[in-house]
Amino acid sequence: MAGKAGKKTDFKEAGVLILQYNSPEGGDDMKEMNLALIGFGNVGREFARILVEREKEWAEKFSLKCKVVAISTLRRGTLLNEAGINLERALAGLETGEIFSPDDPDYSTIDPAGIAALEFVDTFIEITTLNIESGRPAADHIRAALSSGRNVITANKGPIAFCYRELKELAAEKEVHFLFEGTVMDCAPVFNLARETLPGCRITGFSGILNSTTNYLLGEIAAGRSFESALQTARDMGWTEADPSMDLEGWDAAVKTAALLNVLMDADISPHHIERKGIGGINRQSTDAAVKEGKVIKLLCEGHLKEGSIFGRVSPQAIPSTHPLAHVSGTSSALTLETDFAGRITVVIEEPKIRQTAYALVSDLLTIVKNSG
Ligand SMILES: NC(=O)c1ccc[n+]([C@@H]2O[C@H](COP(=O)([O-])OP(=O)(O)OC[C@H]3O[C@@H](n4cnc5c(N)ncnc54)[C@H](OP(=O)(O)O)[C@@H]3O)[C@@H](O)[C@H]2O)c1
Repeated sequence: MAGKAGKKTDFKEAGVLILQYNSPEGGDDMKEMNLALIGFGNVGREFARILVEREKEWAEKFSLKCKVVAISTLRRGTLLNEAGINLERALAGLETGEIFSPDDPDYSTIDPAGIAALEFVDTFIEITTLNIESGRPAADHIRAALSSGRNVITANKGPIAFCYRELKELAAEKEVHFLFEGTVMDCAPVFNLARETLPGCRITGFSGILNSTTNYLLGEIAAGRSFESALQTARDMGWTEADPSMDLEGWDAAVKTAALLNVLMDADISPHHIERKGIGGINRQSTDAAVKEGKVIKLLCEGHLKEGSIFGRVSPQAIPSTHPLAHVSGTSSALTLETDFAGRITVVIEEPKIRQTAYALVSDLLTIVKNSG
């Protein structure tokens, strides 16, 4: 990160201590962070909007100036400009097709591996499409960036579910940051919570509702709606994966379960090791039968230590209506962590939208800035 040592000014005013203040133009101690966005879809564009919105505030509050120097896409090509890409122009030009065109001065044919090798990139943000089968090519992009000594932030759960241990070790070897808060439950603190707030505490298991599409569908079926009609609404709202069977058969939930096991319980497994059952067999009769017993059916993601080995499962289960996860409705998600010292801790995020996922990238970015000396 390009930073200059400089003065900090403390103000004591009306009993309030303001620790640091910089002029909006930036003082001598302004830190610069050059970002490469690999992927410029829903998440990438929302993140770019936040960067534009908060530019002045971050300069004042955090002495931080972020510059996006590369934007890579699959079909539209890439933009590259060491001096910084005009994000407002990129966002507007995306709609009209003007800026992602070989006629644009920023247009480039460099690929993500080439971007990873550029010395002027500080932090590489991997937000390409999830490959639920293998985590690639996102994992290759991240490997290339870490190998070249870049910090990496991602919201793509594939690499965390398939090769987290290898990537973590590479980041440690290269002494760079590797953060991924947006991979499970958008910006709800899950990995941050374990890393920052529970030092010395062991996570011995977890259970959660981590797939919003199936949670919504189960709620609608229980309320008497047909599966087909509810699925159509979920598709229309953009809640399903491009291939909805990835939600319905529990694959998306299995990828998240593997990611949690890898990070929180050092499992080094892949989604293919997760016992998996989707919601295919659930109908109105099943939900009515559960209600008669004072229960509700949820697609649960679970990870536990069982007989000395780590075990992960995704399956529909009838849980008591008094259970904390029973109240998680619609597209909300929740995770209960079981710990040795802190007991059970449940985190809930209510009906997250794209801004919450983009904020996870912001949170990781500001964590890197804070820890970059
Ligand atoms: N959307 C959410 O609510 C959400 C929530 C949590 C996590 N995530 C994760 O965040 C990531 C991004 O999601 P999204 O909704 O932004 O996806 P998206 O709208 O489909 O955008 C994906 C972007 O990645 C680009 N891309 C795909 N393959 C690439 C490659 N090999 N090289 C360079 N660029 C490539 C695409 O290029 P084109 O523009 O040319 O197609 C597109 O710009 C995914 O991994 C997703 O699982 C998303």
